[in-house]
Amino acid sequence: MSVKQTCLISREAIARRVAELGAQISRDYAGRDLVMVGVLKGAFIFLADLVRELAFPVEIDFARLASYGGGTSPTGEVHITKDVELPLKDRDVLIVEDIMDIGYTLSFLKQHLATHRPRSLKICCLIDKRERREVEVQLDYTGFVVERGFLVGYGLDCGEKQRTLPEIYVIEEKG
Ligand code: IMP
Ligand code: MG
Repeated sequence: MSVKQTCLISREAIARRVAELGAQISRDYAGRDLVMVGVLKGAFIFLADLVRELAFPVEIDFARLASYGGGTSPTGEVHITKDVELPLKDRDVLIVEDIMDIGYTLSFLKQHLATHRPRSLKICCLIDKRERREVEVQLDYTGFVVERGFLVGYGLDCGEKQRTLPEIYVIEEKG
């Protein structure tokens, strides 16, 4: 069995879409007190590019989550390994994630951050991967919709490899 990597989203297409999202977020949050919470590790590149497309400065924080693997409740597989540190109460909070797959991670994080009583809480996710979705979580900003496949590059990893690729690739097993 061999593994083939095919480019799915070029760096130009990513840059164009990130600029569009940045413009949209700039319009929607103009004059507000925005804190962006990046989900480690995968969202670090997307977040870094996105904040430089905004028309105003924002505060940045990070959370990191891990899955137990197995489990049955909609959020039960996920736990926090690094929590946010900035105060979120009465502030506008935007979660920035690389990819939504089954939906557990964003469902858990959104419920968790809601306990901080932010003024508003929304999600910006670069890739909405539909095929394996079990929990629907509203994505307020979506970069790309992809039906299926395992993706790497632009922050997305496969066993910690290939995060630094500037394009997004789909991994296919052949044979
Ligand atoms: P889920 O929505 O709970 O399945 O979790 C999404 C998380 O799984 C993402 O934050 C990624 O860390 C990881 N993930 C899901 N699909 C992919 C993929 O295609 N490539 C790399 N990581 C993925
Ligand atoms: Mg992730």
